Amino acid sequence: MGNTKKPWSGRFQKKTAASVEKFTASIHFDKRLYPFDIEGSIAHAIMLAKQNIITKKEALKIISTLKKIGKDLEAGKMKFDMADEDIHMAIERELTKRIGAIGGKIHSGRSRNDQVVLDTRLYLRSEIKMLVDLLRGLQGTLIKLAKKEIRTIMPGYTHMQKAQPVLLSHYLLAFLEMFERDVQRLNDCEKRVNICPLGSAALAGTSLPIDRGQTSRTLNFASLSRNSMDAVADRDFIAEFVFDASLIMMHLSRFCEDLILWSTEEFSFIEISDAYTTGSSIMPQKKNPDVAELIRGKTARVYGSLMTIMTLLKGLPMTYNRDLQEDKEPLFEAVDTVKNCLTVFTEMIVNTKFNAENMYLAAKGGFSAATDIAEYLVKKGIPFRAAHEIVGKIVAYCLENNKELEYLSVKEYQKFDKNIGKDIHNVVKIENVVNSRKHAGGTATKQVIDRLNEFEKIIDNH
Ligand code: ARG
Repeated sequence: MGNTKKPWSGRFQKKTAASVEKFTASIHFDKRLYPFDIEGSIAHAIMLAKQNIITKKEALKIISTLKKIGKDLEAGKMKFDMADEDIHMAIERELTKRIGAIGGKIHSGRSRNDQVVLDTRLYLRSEIKMLVDLLRGLQGTLIKLAKKEIRTIMPGYTHMQKAQPVLLSHYLLAFLEMFERDVQRLNDCEKRVNICPLGSAALAGTSLPIDRGQTSRTLNFASLSRNSMDAVADRDFIAEFVFDASLIMMHLSRFCEDLILWSTEEFSFIEISDAYTTGSSIMPQKKNPDVAELIRGKTARVYGSLMTIMTLLKGLPMTYNRDLQEDKEPLFEAVDTVKNCLTVFTEMIVNTKFNAENMYLAAKGGFSAATDIAEYLVKKGIPFRAAHEIVGKIVAYCLENNKELEYLSVKEYQKFDKNIGKDIHNVVKIENVVNSRKHAGGTATKQVIDRLNEFEKIIDNH
């Protein structure tokens, strides 16, 4: 360590302190950017040759060697040295080691400042694609499950108290909507990621006759950055992405929280497969929903990444400052965590049994048809507030006499309001409670099936 000559050593008289070399290095984490660094350098070399900044022969040599370096890196045949500082210098050093001084030509009209943003953008563009695929996969799993469980009725909750019955499929659709927004957010973020910064060099561009459009096209970017200072200073796209990742985690953690609760003996709404639960080292009877708990817990890491990025950027002077090197670990952490969580969550859902009977029994309890009786009275012309009061008294009567709305006689009902007729028993039937909510966005079976079919189309077109 410390013996490699630095590409920037010209104006230095003393060797870098070993502690500084270690302190400033990012190679141990930015090495994962190597495929993108190589892809970017190849595109840059093609452009340099086209613009006669280097010869065609030189470009061919540089490109074929870069490809070989890429292969060696993939095969694990190349070791990195802390003295290389970062992935950009490591690859350039290797290139020069293999082809001599020509290797040094690759950095013409380029700086690590635009190079590092280029690599990060290429990396994130490809990760966003993978994340969207994972979200689509999860959505597909939820659609299948919702279709299979289309008859299952469960209690819907507010304040963690039984509120009104809903279809389990309606509950699942709520998460399909959340994940749909996540996909939309990622696709929107991708528009601001998919911009080519190359050519901005250190901060002010270059006096060499580069063709920025050429590199951008080779790398399949949608557009060019329009200001060289902004291009090297901008990390908005990272902050935006990590926020999007935080929302995905938040959605997963809310889902997990319900699953954890539902898997308790007290609820017994679901059973997560043995393969996706763990045991206790002391209590032999235990089967714990650790996967769901860990996803809930890992949400904190991604929020941590978001805080890191926001704090990193606050008050940073224009343009590039070394602080920006600290953007990568939180970004990688967020990407890895969300990918892992989406993958394992989807598997866990596939391996979970839903106990339709227990859900149904729970939905029937708790006077969950009370609002429907009030709305029944509203249809008979009674103001909602008065109807609310009447039904409140009916519920109190049931509680006192240990009765349920379904089994009260018409006579008993009429003691509270003479407008109540024989049809009341149909109104309080749980299936009817669900199916009467047939407006757009409601939990009626037909509405739910329609929305599921719409989602199926959205996903098929993906
Ligand atoms: N490793 C650096 C980073 O991640 C690359 C850019 C360094 N540029 C510089 N002029 N020191 O930000």
